[in-house]
Amino acid sequence: MDDKNQMTAVYPGSFDPPTLGHIDIIKRATAIFPKVIVAVLKNPGKKTTFTSEERLSMLRSAAGQEKNVEIDSFEGLLVDYVQKKNARVIIRGLRVISDFEYEFQMALMNRKLYPHIETIYLMPHEKYSYVSSSLVKEVAQLGGEVGCLVPPSVEAHLKLLFRKSKP
Ligand code: COA
Repeated sequence: MDDKNQMTAVYPGSFDPPTLGHIDIIKRATAIFPKVIVAVLKNPGKKTTFTSEERLSMLRSAAGQEKNVEIDSFEGLLVDYVQKKNARVIIRGLRVISDFEYEFQMALMNRKLYPHIETIYLMPHEKYSYVSSSLVKEVAQLGGEVGCLVPPSVEAHLKLLFRKSKP
């Protein structure tokens, strides 16, 4: 593993769908790391609102133009994917204290599985601290305005999805 790869960071998540909070974290990570791989979890056992192809496409529209960002998907253990990419840094966002316990457990489990890994936490702008994918979906489904919380491509997907599901 060369030094350049060591400085590759993987930002994993379900991104179901990505929000401006996620994009904020991607931008912060790209200002620090020479390469950031945004890795969409493709878990056939987990029911998601959007397919992995849709989540990849929304992320590509929202963040694919950043020159040091790669948008990819992965299956299986995150640490295996990180090793395959010759990276050693995982990026996660911390919005509020309640995120901490889950993140702490994940970071320690990942470290146990692959001791060479470090998880680095970035705080999104406070204006996104209350934003989550499920809240955004609930508000959009009930006809609320989410344009200030998600990228335009996500807003379009949400509109299409909930227009389709209206009786
Ligand atoms: N802005 C807005 N929302 C954010 C956010 C941010 N910066 N950071 C997290 N969130 C929200 C998401 O919107 C989402 O909300 P929801 O619960 O309402 O859907 C929630 O926090 C978490 O989503 P996300 O950031 O997409 O991550 P995740 O927790 O779904 O991702 C993985 C978890 C993919 C990292 C983890 O399951 C994994 O590594 N899986 C692979 C299998 C594995 O290795 N397992 C062992 C792990 S120790």
